[in-house]
Amino acid sequence: MADVRTIAVLGAGDMGHGIAQLAALRGFRVRLRDVDDAVLERGLHAIRASLDKLVAKSRLTRDEADAALARVETTKDLPAAVGSADLVIEAVPERLDLKQRVFAEVENAAAPHAILATNTSAMRVQEVGASLRDPTRLVGMHFFNPVLLMDLVEIIPGPSTSPDALHAAQAVAERMGKTVVTLAADTPGFVTSRLISVWVGAGVMAAEAKLASREAIDASMRFRAGFPMGPFELADYTGLDVGVHASDYMASRLGPAYAPAPSMRALVEAGNLGKKTGRGFFPWKDGRADVNLAPELAKEFDPALVLSLVVNEAAKLLEQGVASAADIDLACRRGLAFPKGPLEWADEVGVDQVVKSLYTLFEATGHPLAEPYELLLEMVEEGRVGKKVGHGFHDHAPRAATSAPKARREHETLVVSVDEKARVGTITLDRPHRLHAINADLLRELRDALHQLERDERVRVVLLTGAGEKAFCAGADLSETTGVTPAAATETIRQAHKTCVEMEKLGKPVVAAVNGLALGGGFELALACDLRVAAKRATFGLPEVTLGLLPAMGGTQRLPKLVGLARAKEIALLGQRFDAERAMSLGLVSAVYPNESFARDAHEFAAQLAQHAPLALRATKQLLNASMTTDIATGMELEAMAFGVLVSTEDVLEGVSALFGKRKPEFQGK
Ligand SMILES: NC(=O)c1ccc[n+]([C@@H]2O[C@H](COP(=O)([O-])OP(=O)(O)OC[C@H]3O[C@@H](n4cnc5c(N)ncnc54)[C@H](O)[C@@H]3O)[C@@H](O)[C@H]2O)c1
Repeated sequence: MADVRTIAVLGAGDMGHGIAQLAALRGFRVRLRDVDDAVLERGLHAIRASLDKLVAKSRLTRDEADAALARVETTKDLPAAVGSADLVIEAVPERLDLKQRVFAEVENAAAPHAILATNTSAMRVQEVGASLRDPTRLVGMHFFNPVLLMDLVEIIPGPSTSPDALHAAQAVAERMGKTVVTLAADTPGFVTSRLISVWVGAGVMAAEAKLASREAIDASMRFRAGFPMGPFELADYTGLDVGVHASDYMASRLGPAYAPAPSMRALVEAGNLGKKTGRGFFPWKDGRADVNLAPELAKEFDPALVLSLVVNEAAKLLEQGVASAADIDLACRRGLAFPKGPLEWADEVGVDQVVKSLYTLFEATGHPLAEPYELLLEMVEEGRVGKKVGHGFHDHAPRAATSAPKARREHETLVVSVDEKARVGTITLDRPHRLHAINADLLRELRDALHQLERDERVRVVLLTGAGEKAFCAGADLSETTGVTPAAATETIRQAHKTCVEMEKLGKPVVAAVNGLALGGGFELALACDLRVAAKRATFGLPEVTLGLLPAMGGTQRLPKLVGLARAKEIALLGQRFDAERAMSLGLVSAVYPNESFARDAHEFAAQLAQHAPLALRATKQLLNASMTTDIATGMELEAMAFGVLVSTEDVLEGVSALFGKRKPEFQGK
């Protein structure tokens, strides 16, 4: 397999320059080619601006940014771009004839070992490679926009793709830090473009059948189903012409059922393409849909109607062997920002309910895609309807007890792991599509994880962090908090308080390892920990007032006690973000570590703490916390009593004899 060092990227538009930047950041040499000088210049400018932003946010050092930029060369000359490349990634406009022409030219100019990849959003790899003498070197590498932020690369082998080409594409995507989903078949629209097109189509067909207004459908997808945008806003955002083009392609290959909805095509024909022209399904102003998606509107439409259509289509992909249920769900979560995979969702609500929703939609619209697919009907007939019976698309049967693995995924929103040697238990928040934002499930599971680690005798210190590099926790999941009743919102906050109080009451120190964004509730979660350490790239802030809210996870109470009233007011009333160094100068964090070694350094910090006497740590933590509410005389009395108890412990004997014996103490917590 070719060892990929140099990557040529063809096309410096939205996708091309994004792929070029990511490749350069991950150490590849990049040749970026476009046919248009102005686009090349704009692409390079965008890369430079994005790198500068990463430096300003302390996510990169100046030297790293300069080195990445130095690895990118731009050119209009095709042989110069691809001649020394080990991998050529094509990102030219979505036109089959153009892509075929480009690949024919590339084949003549590239080295014989070079792997070729297409970033087409929907076209079959086999067709894109039809002009190649040797189609075994071509593979689909589907990146998502914006390339730097979206976590997924969907990899599509054509029927002739060689294992070497496939493995090279997988290895490069992994080196770029992406989640890779490799499909088993080359099908129009792959998994993601097919399902997103059906998701949009479902919303549009429901509006055309007058089941609800566009606004109500978008509001329900946002506020009831937890999507960042509804189908109309998303279609406008990506460009209605892009959507119509992809649907036309799918219709020409899969059948007329996939054709774009009439109202969508009419908008394109009238030149109303969405955000980029200022009008699409909605009017757009200053880069935003100029429409009032009031949360109350969400009541007017059942999001299950749209989601069931996606499940119907996903079931076809599953049965056609395009991808496994787990991969379909993963691709939707990571590539399309679905809050849950469609098949996970189907299992949760019940496949029987999905079929019911499909009949409702089919009756209202008569659309062939809404007709329940045989696999779903079979599943209902056989009773494989999901979680309530233990199996559906996924297996939900309780797992047999096995020897305890190191990290167990028993929770949906976080992962618990124990390092026995260091005596550190780690809770890693893991809702990547929401930057680990807090919802009711996360609060409940966090309490559960805290109890689990409290009981675990191997653990003396708990470390709380976020998965990946972007976020510790980006705050409350607003998609789930807007539109709820005041009583329900108050109850959610009480649950949040309860979780923070459990951290304070835990008999073991809790250290927040702030690896990235810690905003709003995320910051407040860190404030409820006993100690905090931060990566250089970490960003803190309480932006609630800028959203019309207030810091309600204990922020108004804990922050002034930690930094003083004046500083607390500055942070909470101005709502501005601040970096790790500033957090250090405010005394909020005990150490700032380099980004590259942060996970290791934070763990080491916790491991050092875990070497101290557990009973002494516990009593000291409790007394310090008590100082927030008790008067000094009572506090000192508690101190005296606790001291009296501690002197009689074995740990004190061990501590004192180790001191005299000039050795490291080994505390037993007795
Ligand atoms: N934009 C997205 O959200 C997105 C997401 C995933 C995949 N894609 C796919 O990526 C590809 C590129 O999309 P985009 O949004 O970056 O398009 P774009 O129009 O922004 O950029 C395409 C660039 O290719 C250049 N070009 C045309 N002919 C060329 C040639 N022969 N050699 C080199 N460059 C050439 C054009 O000048 C243009 O700058 C398309 O296939 C698209 O379907 C797009």
